Amino acid sequence: MAETINEVKFSDAAMAEIQRYISHYPEGRQKSALLPILHIAQAEFGGWVGPDVMDKIAEILDIQPIEVYEVATFYTMFNLKPVGKHVLEVCRTGPCCLRGADELIDTLKRKLNIEEGETSADGMFTLKPVECLASCGTGPMLQVRELFYENLDSEERVDEFLAMMRQKEHEVPTWAQ
Ligand code: FES
Repeated sequence: MAETINEVKFSDAAMAEIQRYISHYPEGRQKSALLPILHIAQAEFGGWVGPDVMDKIAEILDIQPIEVYEVATFYTMFNLKPVGKHVLEVCRTGPCCLRGADELIDTLKRKLNIEEGETSADGMFTLKPVECLASCGTGPMLQVRELFYENLDSEERVDEFLAMMRQKEHEVPTWAQ
């Protein structure tokens, strides 16, 4: 059964961080804290933000839910459906394509047995092609949370990367440390 707004509950640490962001803005301008709050929500609720979570954010900020939806659906860093433990955001913009981004995506699809936007059967990886991540000189590359993994230009390097990620835990968000 879907959670209702009242069932969506941020941890005390997350709420404290949300209030800290809101306090940066003058009365009536609390919507300006929306982007960091979406990041906090995504970290808090398993790496994605569903409608109930977005409704809760709207309630906290005293804005309309559509104002949250339109921001969350615009930026690719917000996941709108459940994802795997590690979301592989692979750059597929021109410079990375010239250095093998398409091959990297094909290799990941083959090794993980998934298509773009899907999650591997073990729940470990979600494949998500995105636009330029500003690491154009070190492509082909991908991002997992805040970290870049670069020069993934051979099958061996992809194997090393996947093996490393299988051992890796989620990074704990800074505000929760
Ligand atoms: S083109 Fe890939 S990081 Fe810029």
